[in-house]
Amino acid sequence: MIHFAILTLFPSMFDGPLTESILKRAQQAGFIEIDIHNIRDYATDRHRTTDDAPYGGGAGMVMKAEPLAAALRAVRGSPLTDHPPEEQTSTLQPLVLLMSPDGEPLTQSMATELAQYPRIVLVCGHYEGIDERVRTTLIDREVSIGDYILTGGELAAMVLVDAVSRLVPGVLDPESLAEESFSDGLLEYPHYTRPAIWEGQAVPPVLLSGHHGQVALWRRQQRLQRTLMQRPDVLTRSARDGLLTADDLRFLISLGWQPPDR
Ligand code: ADE
Repeated sequence: MIHFAILTLFPSMFDGPLTESILKRAQQAGFIEIDIHNIRDYATDRHRTTDDAPYGGGAGMVMKAEPLAAALRAVRGSPLTDHPPEEQTSTLQPLVLLMSPDGEPLTQSMATELAQYPRIVLVCGHYEGIDERVRTTLIDREVSIGDYILTGGELAAMVLVDAVSRLVPGVLDPESLAEESFSDGLLEYPHYTRPAIWEGQAVPPVLLSGHHGQVALWRRQQRLQRTLMQRPDVLTRSARDGLLTADDLRFLISLGWQPPDR
């Protein structure tokens, strides 16, 4: 069970993506819980201001400290809905993440690590960023979903919730997690389903052979070849991390690959 609290200025952005398909089922089944909080609800002035001009001048607006800090403190300290008293302790202090292009890159291994936390609070930044004093006092880690700039942290938060949720026990069947891209350092093998011939293109005969050993070898070699062609950086890392067998290395070298220096 993992509980996400999302702090945003645009709560309705979360309506679609988190309420369909696997995430919908995971919430209904109680494997994940997602609460959306509007930062504007914590602004106390008449106009419910959440942003202001930067000290020192410059373009854009900065998210103000007070409403964001009030929202964070309220959410951090609030009891969990539907949880027994023994789970309402300080051991469930949430991990507070700021979605920001300046953050650590989100990877599959970070998603695996985050899936171990019982509570995660996600702050969606907007405009030029948040007041530095909130960042340094109330944020545990900053996370980026890639080296490009989004209009705000909302889409990034949804990506993180999706990537982490599917790793929470019970959300997916364990077999679909076992052999997927990145989890063991290689991209996936190609998949085929009926019909056996589509628009003149046949399925590779080995897959129809019923020979499990040959199918497994073919799939492994396809994964190696695909990773070499599409993500040589991933292959280099896997080789360095000792994830490749002697047979893998022989096969890759036969394709012209040069093993990395250690
Ligand atoms: N906010 C804007 N761009 C972002 C990115 N690439 N990752 C996370 N949060 C963001």
